[in-house]
Amino acid sequence: MFTLNTQNWTEKPVTPVNTLQVFITNRCNMRCKGCFYAHKLDNHSDISLDNYKSIVSNNSSLIKKIILLGGEPLLHKNLGNILIENNKHNISTTVYTNGRNIDVLKDLPDVPFDVRIGVFGNTLTEKPLSKIKSIDRPVKIVFMLRKDNIEELNMVALEAESRFNCRALYISSIRDITVTKDYWKDTNETVTNEDYAKIVQKFINEYNGGIKQIDISTRGVLVSNTRDVTELKHCRFGNIFPDNKKIICPLDISLNKTSDEFGYNKRTCNKHTHCVLQKISLIRN
Ligand SMILES: C[S@@+](CC[C@H](N)C(=O)[O-])C[C@H]1O[C@@H](n2cnc3c(N)ncnc32)[C@H](O)[C@@H]1O
Repeated sequence: MFTLNTQNWTEKPVTPVNTLQVFITNRCNMRCKGCFYAHKLDNHSDISLDNYKSIVSNNSSLIKKIILLGGEPLLHKNLGNILIENNKHNISTTVYTNGRNIDVLKDLPDVPFDVRIGVFGNTLTEKPLSKIKSIDRPVKIVFMLRKDNIEELNMVALEAESRFNCRALYISSIRDITVTKDYWKDTNETVTNEDYAKIVQKFINEYNGGIKQIDISTRGVLVSNTRDVTELKHCRFGNIFPDNKKIICPLDISLNKTSDEFGYNKRTCNKHTHCVLQKISLIRN
């Protein structure tokens, strides 16, 4: 395990909240290598607005946050009403997007929601930031490291800063689920834990741009200075899909391990120390 030397940054405590990931559509305008949802993309179904409303009202007492994904959530024609519904229930929303039809964001209702744009590089790879049109609204850019894009991390930070109103850069890494079928297994393209820690440390040492927040997936190798994840006992996630199937752990999606209920605060999990969904959040001093 590795503790980051945070230098000019201060770690902000992260408070995990019960989060429902709603895969609102199986449609996607991209086919990213390794996508954990690739096996669902040929079935072109969307969650209907009525179904969405009942999912939210059935779970609103248990959850504080909804992450909208898919497929590509900006393709869902009722995205605006979905955001309004979450807001009505006082549930915060994050929309994950590949950014290919980012203009959709301009026409959405004026309710609060966060946007995360996931990229695998700046110009390299099938999911580069340079292909995404600039937009003025605040976004988080999520950089997924792979062996073939390591040298683009700095470029993504610069581009995120110059062309986007980038509130935070999130650094994580990708495992090729289409090969392994299993989120926990590495391939030849996966950045090893040791290299991941070194790459992140080097980035923190050298980055002197204007982005004020860097979020980093702990990925089972980085240790938080502000909280002890071994104390965490329960998974905070639930996942639901257009066919109404439920899966508790996001890392079980590729394994199709369905469940009758989400089991918030009930199902114990012993993988928190190496869960890729744990993060460290650094704020510029
Ligand atoms: C399945 S996508 C759906 C939302 C949207 N289409 C997008 O590209 O962000 C959700 C996020 O998961 C990330 N992702 C997909 N497959 C992954 C994998 N095998 N390992 C890690 N992250 C992955 C993507 O980069 C993306 O940002």
